[in-house]
Parts: sequence; structure tokens; C-alpha cells
Amino acid sequence: MSERTLKSIEELIKFHGKPKREVYFDGENSGRVLKEVIEAMLPYFRDTGYGHPSITNKPGWEAYEAFSKASELIAKTLNVNSQDLIFTHSGTEANNLAILGGVRANKHLGKKIIISAIEHLSVIFPAKELEKTGFKIVEVPVDSEGFMDPDTLESFVDDDTVLVSIGYVNHEIGTIQRLREIIEKIRDKNPNTIIHSDVVDAYGRIPLDLTKLDLDMATLSSHKIKGPRGVGVLYLKEGVNLEKIIYGQLSTQEYWPGVENVPLVVGFAKAAEIRFTNFEEKVNHMRKLRDMLIEGIMDKVPYVILNGPKGERRAPDNVNLSFLYCEGEALTIEFSFNGVYVSSGSACTTRVLEPSHVLVAIGRKYEEAHGSILFKVDPEHTIEDIEYTLEVVPKAVERIRMISSAKPREV
Ligand SMILES: Cc1ncc(COP(=O)(O)O)c(C=O)c1O
Repeated sequence: MSERTLKSIEELIKFHGKPKREVYFDGENSGRVLKEVIEAMLPYFRDTGYGHPSITNKPGWEAYEAFSKASELIAKTLNVNSQDLIFTHSGTEANNLAILGGVRANKHLGKKIIISAIEHLSVIFPAKELEKTGFKIVEVPVDSEGFMDPDTLESFVDDDTVLVSIGYVNHEIGTIQRLREIIEKIRDKNPNTIIHSDVVDAYGRIPLDLTKLDLDMATLSSHKIKGPRGVGVLYLKEGVNLEKIIYGQLSTQEYWPGVENVPLVVGFAKAAEIRFTNFEEKVNHMRKLRDMLIEGIMDKVPYVILNGPKGERRAPDNVNLSFLYCEGEALTIEFSFNGVYVSSGSACTTRVLEPSHVLVAIGRKYEEAHGSILFKVDPEHTIEDIEYTLEVVPKAVERIRMISSAKPREV
């Protein structure tokens, strides 16, 4: 960013005055790294383990040891072997490796790839790339809360199905799929089909046992649990064929060449260790704040609809609401001047003013999708954060509706 832009943002904030409190709810896009995570990473940049983990010198051995320990810790949280984890530089890369590498390595199994209509774009786009080379994509529809029907999905699976990729928890509307049942049905219909799940938004939010789930591949991303951004994982079950999608030199990892980012992998492991300490308590806390926010806003603000399901089958951290007669972008700006930081529509498409494909898939109209705001709560949020947000939101919505051209008579 140029100095000029930075200066003008400072001026903009000064002009609007400092908010009473700042609450960051945009963990969907990225966010603050936990202090303990930064402290755990720092020594690995210059004090210890700063070498290449494949090289036989002391900093290299230390790097290999740190990398292995971090990998073991993360593997334990998933109930898998650490040898089955491939560290990439993002969840996007891990999803690309799963879809492109999984399909290409197993192309003898068939030409059909099944995904859902609400997958993350880092699953949808590589699948679309494969379509150009002769594979056929089938999109499983979802209902108005984002659920896939396991029987409908099963009916799409046949002898020609090479891969199915179904996200466990939807990143935008928090729908928790009946993944175990879906996997069983796929295995019954075609035991050779490769099954991948993007579990980025399930990790650290719901109990996750990849061995019990019987997945072939699964994707994780560190910054979604307040670890550093720029580190992801692809779990690859032993014996499942995968083809490389990038080529390079020297690495301890077969499928992701290039030097391992040891400090960031250490940070990811630290974030996982923190998230899974008193896990149930953290989940209950998030759920309580989630419901306080949903109920509080729906109580105080008219013309608001909830996107995604209610209760147990909604991710504990997800609050996605459509504020009718409002433009979502305008709301994010108004909230921001008041210290409440959120995103609108889809995190990944905000800079391209397109309605989120997830909201379109659950049947939201164009205006409903455009007025949607995503708040992600995390274990560090407090009741005071939610109370403050409940003060800010009704006033901000009222201000935006007052100047918006699309409104009902009484607003
Ligand atoms: C469900 C899901 N999958 C994949 C990704 C991509 O992860 P990354 O940001 O590490 O590339 C995200 C990121 O927001 C996500 O929410």
C-alpha cells in the first residue's frame, strides 16, 4: 500500500473519531494471530531451527525436529498419522492439490467429479479447470439452509465417479453437513471413489476425527483458528494416489516441494494446541455469543433474515444475517467507523461486487444476498464485545436505511 493511501486512511479515521471499542468479527477472511502463537514462532526465524529441514547441519536438524513435532501435534488433533499430513502455504493450495492432484492421479476411475453448489471457490475453480480437459462436474444442490440430501448425493454417484468433494462446515452460512452419512453412502455406491472434504471451517469448531470419518483427503488452514496466514494442510490417507501439481527441489515432503515454512507450521501447531485446550468450553462460549448476537440483532432490527440453519447444526462461530433494504458494503463501512469489523456477502468476492454463490445457492434473492453480513465469533470474544455490537448495529442500519434508495415506506 502506498504512503499516500495509508495517510488518507489515517485521515479518514481521524475525521470519523476513534470508536469506543473495537471488535473484530472478520475471522472468515483473516485476522489477528494469538500472542502466544507469535511468541512460539519468533525463535524459529533466527534463534533456532532457522535452517532447511532436509539439510544436515544443526539449524537444519532443529528445523526438522520442530517441523515434525508441530506436525505430530496437529495430526493428534485429527486422530491421524503425522506422515499423512502435507503442509502447503495455504488452504487454497491444499484444495487445489486435492482436486487437481486427486483427480489426475486417479483418472482411470472415471470422468465424473461431484462437488456441492456451496463449496469454497478454491474447490470449485480447480474442478472447473478439470472440466476443460474432459471431466464432467456435477453440482449437488442444497436446500434453503444449505444442507445436502445424502440420498440425492448418493444418486449422483456411479461407476464413473472419480472424486467427491464436500465441505464439512460451510464457511459463509455455517451449515454442518451430515458428512459421516454422506461418506457411508458414497462408499456403498462406489468404494473406489476418492472422497475429499474441505474441513477448514470445521476444524476447531466441531469435534473432528478424520479416521472415524473415513475420508481420503481433507484440507485445513491455519489462519482460520488464529494461527498465522500462509500455512495449510492436506491430509492424505495412506495408500491414496495423488499426483503432484507443482515441481521443485528438496523438501521433506513428497507432494509439496520447496522449503517448509517451519516458523509458520510451529505457529499453526501452537494455535491448534490453544484451540483444543478446554475445547468444549470454548465451543460453548462461541455458541452462547453467536446466539446472543443473532437474537439481539433480530430483536432490535426489523427486516433481518438469518442465512443458514439454527441450533446444533449451525457452526458455533457463524452469524450470517441479511439486512434487507441495505447495501452490505455500505453497512461494513458504517460498522467499521464504529469499531465493528465484519465482511459482506462472500469474503472471497467482496472486491468483485458479485452476490455470494453460497447465498444464491440457498435461494436468496439478489438484494438479500447483497445485504448480507458475516460475523465470525471466536473464543477470545467477550460478552461486552457482543453488547457493544448490539449498540452499534441497530443505529448503523438505521442510518444506512435512511439514505438508501431501496426501502419500504415505514423504514
Ligand atoms: C472453507 C475454506 N476453504 C479454504 C479456504 C482457503 O484457505 P486460505 O485462506 O488459507 O487459502 C478458506 C479461507 O477462507 C475457507 O474458508
